[in-house]
Amino acid sequence: MCGIVGYVGPKSTLDVLIGGLRRLEYRGYDSAGVSVISPTGHLETRKKAGKLVNLVAEIEEHPLPAAHIGIGHTRWATHGAPTDGNAHPHLGGQTQKLSLIHNGIIENFAELKAELLAEGTSFASETDSEVAAHLIAREFEKTGDLPSAFASVVVRLHGAFTILVIHEDQPDVVLAARRNAPLVIGLGDGENFLGSDVAAFVEHTKRAISVGQDEIVILRADSVEVRTFDGKTVTHEEFTVDWDASAASKGGWSSFMAKEIADQPQAVADTLMGRLNSDGSVRLAEIDGLSHEDIKNLERIIIVACGTASYAGDIAKYGIEKWSRIPVQVELSHEFRYRDPIINKNTLIVAISQSGETMDTLMAIRYAKELGAKVLAICNTQGATLARESDAVIYTHAGPEVAVASTKALTAQITAGFLLGLFLASIRGAVPAAELQRVGLDLLKMPGRVSHVIEGLKQAERLGAEMANAKSVLFLGRNVGFPVAMEGALKLKELAYIHAEGFAAGELKHGPIALIEEGQPVIVIVPSPRDEDSLHPKVISNIQEIRARGAKVIAIAEEGDNQVSSYAENVIFVPECETLLAPILTVIPLQAFALALSTAKGLDVDQPRNLAKSVTVE
Ligand code: AGP
Repeated sequence: MCGIVGYVGPKSTLDVLIGGLRRLEYRGYDSAGVSVISPTGHLETRKKAGKLVNLVAEIEEHPLPAAHIGIGHTRWATHGAPTDGNAHPHLGGQTQKLSLIHNGIIENFAELKAELLAEGTSFASETDSEVAAHLIAREFEKTGDLPSAFASVVVRLHGAFTILVIHEDQPDVVLAARRNAPLVIGLGDGENFLGSDVAAFVEHTKRAISVGQDEIVILRADSVEVRTFDGKTVTHEEFTVDWDASAASKGGWSSFMAKEIADQPQAVADTLMGRLNSDGSVRLAEIDGLSHEDIKNLERIIIVACGTASYAGDIAKYGIEKWSRIPVQVELSHEFRYRDPIINKNTLIVAISQSGETMDTLMAIRYAKELGAKVLAICNTQGATLARESDAVIYTHAGPEVAVASTKALTAQITAGFLLGLFLASIRGAVPAAELQRVGLDLLKMPGRVSHVIEGLKQAERLGAEMANAKSVLFLGRNVGFPVAMEGALKLKELAYIHAEGFAAGELKHGPIALIEEGQPVIVIVPSPRDEDSLHPKVISNIQEIRARGAKVIAIAEEGDNQVSSYAENVIFVPECETLLAPILTVIPLQAFALALSTAKGLDVDQPRNLAKSVTVE
């Protein structure tokens, strides 16, 4: 959580910093702040609680000097309430010449603070971060060598951090350090950038370098040096950012979420591109690192992920198991890591993450790797820590997802999960190739079907807006529809702040049916009537059971399902497809429903309260 940006170069630093923070605001929006060093060598700082607009207003009222070096921060509060005082940057030292921003948590801050308090240092905030500012300033005052003062302090910090520092007495350099939190360098011509992710600087340069774990960056306008914490110079390969700055702007839409829902046909198409042959067979060059022998020897797949990404895993599990016959278990990363799971070299860990920076998921894969498992990432962000630390990566090409609520990343993750399932199955040979190719050919048709669903979202939007006063909404599904139900509920909780639960429809009579009372809205994901396991009649019976107790039912059903309309007040139809692929379609009306309900309540759909896009602390 928290977004950081740093700049040194000839452009207006304030414009670069504010532009970067605007693109990083999804990472946290409790407060924002910037520090710059003026050409006359003065450090100046402005910071303000609340969203970036408050900081912009503050700077209009108290302008900053033109500058060619600076740092900026947008905060998701951990230590200390979201106040002006706790906003970053924090100043360090008696002379307050050093400015620091921090993303992460310094776990041993209490002990370090006690050391500083004993020396008489006074603190201006309740944050853990301010400790680091004073420590670095203190070391610099002793030695006059900023990079070594910086290095001597960062090695003392425990926990997760990306830290950026500038100092009035060294006005040409930004120092940065990274441990367990993201940091990317943007390489320009006579200018250089730092950011939590490439969004911070993509409008200025597409050339980027990911900083490794426990590394320090010494950034000047004309040079970039990367060292390990123990002082060895390292070089990293440069990569080219493959999306345009305009992809991370609203482009006329009312919200990023609305735009990202509409982006889904492209997100699914781009994720399929180059991976499905015209005969429906799958090629996944990305996982060449896993030999056919490795794949044949696999005994188990464990998918680790959090939130919406974990529902993508739940959905992919149905396909991977059915086609490859490899047992799959899906685990929330934070639960997996701490329960002593059974893993060996024949276990494949599949980690799913849009950001590739979710700390719980990173901790899970690190643990699994220690135990000898191979890790395959399904990730949307180039250069992310997850991608770098995994043995192989299938990138979802959804483009930048800015709204906190995940939409297009999810449909791209499901698509990638199905591609993986078909690929593994083609090597394992448990299911005839013709059956796999039939599914592959159907997968190729999904982008067109997603477009069709999006063109028909008016009904879901109307129903969402009509339910603005609902106190609770329940979601039911069976089989692949069950994780879709859970995702529908999560969207509503995070966007509309109302109680919502997703249940397996078969579980209804084991407890949840007691929640049904007159007028209770229930959204039911109805399986295809063509489904060979006859789940359709079972779900129709479930609908009858809840309607008999007063539920108001909205069904998401397949076009041509003639029965369902007699049982539900409202039916939203989605196109026919292979039954296991249906979640790519059925989840979309639920996204639109939550967006419309939240909008009708007058809430901020892109930046819901208490949340941040990337959860980079455990
Ligand atoms: C979904 O709408 C959420 N914002 C959240 O559950 C998210 O999917 C989760 O935090 C995982 O993020 P990741 O994909 O970046 O790892």
